[in-house]
Amino acid sequence: MKLLKDKVMSEGIVLGNQVLKVDSFLNHQMDPVLMKEVGKEFARHFEGEQITKVLTIESSGIAPAIMTALELGVPMIFARKNKSLTLKENILVEKVYSFTKQETNEITVSKKFLDENDRVLIVDDFLANGEAAFGLARIVEQVGAKVAGIGIVIEKSFQPGARRLKEAGYRVDSLVRIAALENGTVTFVDDQTN
Ligand code: G4P
Ligand code: NA
Ligand code: NA
Repeated sequence: MKLLKDKVMSEGIVLGNQVLKVDSFLNHQMDPVLMKEVGKEFARHFEGEQITKVLTIESSGIAPAIMTALELGVPMIFARKNKSLTLKENILVEKVYSFTKQETNEITVSKKFLDENDRVLIVDDFLANGEAAFGLARIVEQVGAKVAGIGIVIEKSFQPGARRLKEAGYRVDSLVRIAALENGTVTFVDDQTN
């Protein structure tokens, strides 16, 4: 997605060899015009998949996910990272380990909002090791619903998440794919679809 690639080139800041800081348009300040285009792009990618729900995880996945859901005309659900004190029995829970943060979080979704008839599009801002996406997929599968696809705004292709998810049988569509973050420079995977 050219607009997004241009934004990464103009505003992304490379930290070390692993991390791309994008807090001017995605992770802190958010660019609504860009998010709207991201939503349209995901909707185009997955329009044939009869999506019934878009699922993400708080907090940075919410903006691209809500715009995608708006375009597809379906609800968006975000998994919570902190357990609700009031809901204990009607929740779906999965553990998600973050290699980046070296901690395990429990993510939760109310059972009210997913059932076996759902075809779910998982959306997230970044894909690194894939743990968040796998956790969301397990939540979907707990209720017997179908993961119809995974839409990622920025894939770090030099980390194993995309490969692991594809090997597990999921369709992964990433709008921007980064081959390397070295010497302060972003190198894109050049076989992008657009
Ligand atoms: P994984 O799910 O792919 O295994 O990723 P990982 O645990 O490594 O990611 C932990 C957090 O770090 C996630 O955000 C993820 O989006 C973010 N992250 C991973 N790599 C990068 C990167 O290169 N740049 C930026 N900006 N973020 C990255 P989170 O903790 O869930 O936070 P939130 O922003 O969604 O609130
Ligand atoms: Na994030
Ligand atoms: Na995220």
